[in-house]
Order: sequence, then structure tokens, then C-alpha cells
Amino acid sequence: MSETPSQISNLETAITDQLAAAQEQLDDLRQQLTESQRLATIGTIAAVIAHEFNNLLTPIVSYSQFALQSAQGESPDLELIKKALSKAFQSSSKAGKICQSMLGLARGECSVGVVPVQKIIDEVLLVMARDPQKDGVALRVQVQPDLMIHGDGVQLEQVLLNLLINARQAMLGRGGSLTIKASLNEAGDEVKLQVIDTGPGIPEKLQTKIFEPFFTTKGTARRGEPKGTGLGLSICKEIVERHNGRIEVASEVGKGTTFTIHFPAALAAAT
Ligand SMILES: Nc1ncnc2c1ncn2[C@@H]1O[C@H](COP(=O)(O)OP(=O)(O)O)[C@@H](O)[C@H]1O
Ligand SMILES: [Mg+2]
Repeated sequence: MSETPSQISNLETAITDQLAAAQEQLDDLRQQLTESQRLATIGTIAAVIAHEFNNLLTPIVSYSQFALQSAQGESPDLELIKKALSKAFQSSSKAGKICQSMLGLARGECSVGVVPVQKIIDEVLLVMARDPQKDGVALRVQVQPDLMIHGDGVQLEQVLLNLLINARQAMLGRGGSLTIKASLNEAGDEVKLQVIDTGPGIPEKLQTKIFEPFFTTKGTARRGEPKGTGLGLSICKEIVERHNGRIEVASEVGKGTTFTIHFPAALAAAT
């Protein structure tokens, strides 16, 4: 038995109505998902800000202690006090900027511009808590001149800072070498930024896990060693991907670890 034209038309209307209802439900669900993702982001943001602050508070506390000790001593060393205060000032200014930038990241904002790679490296080395040499780590910096990335300078600095802190923690007590490399690929459209350490390496089965938020192997740290939050690399990944880049790890147990980030290269004129 075949349907009459009016039956077909009724059927069509019913299907269209059902489709519209399903679409509406889907839209609702999507909105709920977006909202819960936003809440989850805001939930993590507190932990992230605490983590990033902790990175910068360490030098602030130790430099202020230096300055205080010297000031209270028999013959205060004004040069040392000045240097310690200026280091503490640099770190606290950076902490303020990072706070704003992280809140921006939570809101999905990015204050973008063209950032010279050399500047990112210089700024990060400036706020590194301790001279790596003091821990028996030889620091090498190999940067091609005039490399530019399009993005948020403060966030890009956070990526490098987190990678350097991890590398330094990995080599704590054993020394080694830490290399920062930056170069342009042959096609001239990608900037490759690498942090290379000669630490203990990362077992292969953990290499996919390390970018997950809260994954850390530093939970049961020995006394005196830093505890982990497991947020550093997840922040790096989030920021790199927001900059249309990608981050990779190559590591061999007993030899060391290399983190490589590829960013689209920016032209100096394209602000
Ligand atoms: N350079 C490195 N060498 C060895 N292991 C590393 C290195 N960088 C990261 N890891 C591993 O990845 C884990 C996650 O790193 P991260 O997200 O920065 O969190 P956290 O440093 O707080 O543990 C670390 O706990 C460590 O096991
Ligand atoms: Mg870390």
C-alpha cells in the first residue's frame, strides 16, 4: 500500500518537527557542556595561578631574605641588597602579569602581538630563581637572531619557565647540561623552540601522561626535593595550542629529555 500525497506531507511535517526538537535538545546540551567546561576551567585556574605564583614566590622569598640578613648584619652590603631587591621586584612584577594573563586565559582572551624569541628567553632567565651553575648545571643558549612568534608574551614566557624548572628539578643533585635552542625551519614558516636536559629521562609509558593536568611523579618527593602539582606541562600544552603550536617530548631513560615546541613563525611587520 502506498501513501497518499497528504499522508506523505504529514509525515514530512512530523519528521521536521522531530528534527527541530532534537536540534533544540542538542543546542541545550552543547550550552550545558560549554558552561561546565567553563566552570571546570575556572576551577583549575585557582590551582594554576597558585602553581605559577609558587614558581615566582620562591625567588622573591629567598632574595628578600638575603637583603634582610645583609641589612641586619654588622656591615650591610648595599650592592647585594640592591641586587636582591631588584630580583624580588622583577619576580613580583612578573607574578602580577602572570595573574592577569592567566585570568585572561580563563576567559579565553589573549593579548597578542609579535614577540621576539630572544626576549622570551631573556625575560625567563631573569626570573629563574637560582643560577643553574650553582646546581652544577651548565646552561647553553643557542638562538637564531630575529625569530618572532605571534602571541601573548607573558604566556609564552610561562611555557619556557615551566620547561626550565622541570629540567632543573630533573637534574637536581646530579648536575648536567641544560640547552635552550631556537631556530627557524627550512621553509621559514615555523619556529622550533627546544629545552634539552641531560637528566634521568622519562619512561616511554609515562610520556603520553605527563601532559595531563595533575599528573606528577613528584608526589612522594624525598625531603628537600620539590613536590609536584602536575600542572606545569598541562599549562604549557594549553598555551602552546592556543598559539596554534604543538609540543612534543623525546626522552630516553638515563640520557635525558628534550621538549620541542613548534610555533608558526611571525613576520616582524605583522603585528
Ligand atoms: N625534564 C624532565 N625530565 C624528567 N621528567 C620530567 C621532565 N619534565 C617533566 N617530567 C615529568 O613529567 C611530570 C609532569 O610535569 P609537570 O606537569 O611539570 O608537573 P610537576 O613538575 O609538578 O610534576 C613530572 O612529574 C615528571 O615526572
Ligand atoms: Mg613542573
